[in-house]
This record gives sequence, C-alpha cells and structure tokens, in this order.
Amino acid sequence: MILRYWRGDITTLVVDAIVNAANEALLGGGGVDGAIHGAAGPGLLDECRGLGGCATGEAKPTGGHDLPARWVIHAVGPEWKGGAHGEADQLASCYRRSLEVAADLGACSVAFPAISTGVYGYPKEAAARIAVDTVRAFGDHHPDAIDEVVLVAFFAVDHARYEDLLAAD
Ligand code: APR
Repeated sequence: MILRYWRGDITTLVVDAIVNAANEALLGGGGVDGAIHGAAGPGLLDECRGLGGCATGEAKPTGGHDLPARWVIHAVGPEWKGGAHGEADQLASCYRRSLEVAADLGACSVAFPAISTGVYGYPKEAAARIAVDTVRAFGDHHPDAIDEVVLVAFFAVDHARYEDLLAAD
C-alpha cells in the first residue's frame, strides 16, 4: 500500500472512494461534508437517509453519485472534549473502519480528509499522527487490500504537517 498526501478539494479527486467526515445523523452538514454533498448532488442525501445514521468511530458506504469517486465512505469522527473521552481511539477507529469498508467494496484507492480537525476541534498535529499511524498499521496487516491511500489537506499548513510527519518516519 502506498501512502501519500495531497493538497486540495477532496471532491475533485479521481479515486475509487473518498471518505466523508460526517456526523451521526449522516444527513449532511458543513465543512467537507457540505462540500461532498454539494458536489455529489441530491441523490447522495437520498441514499444517506436510508442508512439509519452511524455511530462515532464507525463508517458506512454509499455511491459517489455525481462525484468522480465511485463511492463515499461516511465516517463519524469524535468531537474533541479535551482528550480524556476516548477521542484518540475513536479517531483511529474511523480510519481503520473506513479502510475495512473500502477493502470490502473492492476499492483500490481511498482518499481521506483530516477527520475531526474542523468543526469537531481535534488538535491537528495529534490527528495527523493518528491518521498516518492507523493507515500504515492497516497496510502492514493487509498489504494487498488497498493499493493507495491519499491523506488530503485542504490548507497549506495541513499539507506541510503531513509532509513533515511522513518525512520524519
Ligand atoms: N476537501 C478536503 N478537506 C476539506 C474540505 C474539502 N473540500 N473542506 C474542508 N476540509 C477539511 C477541513 O479543513 C478540516 O481539516 O476537512 C477537515 C475536517 O473538517 P470538518 O469538515 O469540519 O469535519 P469535522 O471536524 O470532522 O466535523 C464534522 O462537521 O459539517 C459537519 O456534518 C459535519 O457535523 C459534522 C462535523
């Protein structure tokens, strides 16, 4: 599995699956969730209505509708409450469960936004570390499951963080 990072709008990526940073209702929102629903069109919300929500730390797939990606994997990250409420485990679970769902779908390439680091307030440095470590651990345990994982940074500062983390390892 190749792990790389890229700066830009995840809704434009031509990959098999993009991950959405959703909430438990799975009925849309702001941030990357709003961007994905906006680009996918109303069919995505219709499909999400049938999913019955999703627990924090879990992930559920839909089609990509009008997106270039074939699938959207809706993952629900934790809201940051100071770090003593299981946030790190829940965030790691989001990445792991999204990759398991992607592998079950047969997706070869998967792109992630920085889950929980916007509205949900997770400290960005710690979240980036969890993203990198969890994706790598998945690749070590399932080397043939997914060919490529892309960590998407919306801002330059987030892109630089991924660059530093991956260069340091
Ligand atoms: N492409 C890639 N990344 C994006 C994009 C985009 N188009 N838009 C925003 N981001 C980045 C943000 O910069 C942030 O780093 O996604 C990251 C996650 O931020 P949020 O979208 O706010 O997600 P999160 O912190 O997980 O909060 C989830 O926000 O809108 C609601 O429905 C959503 O209630 C849920 C909550």
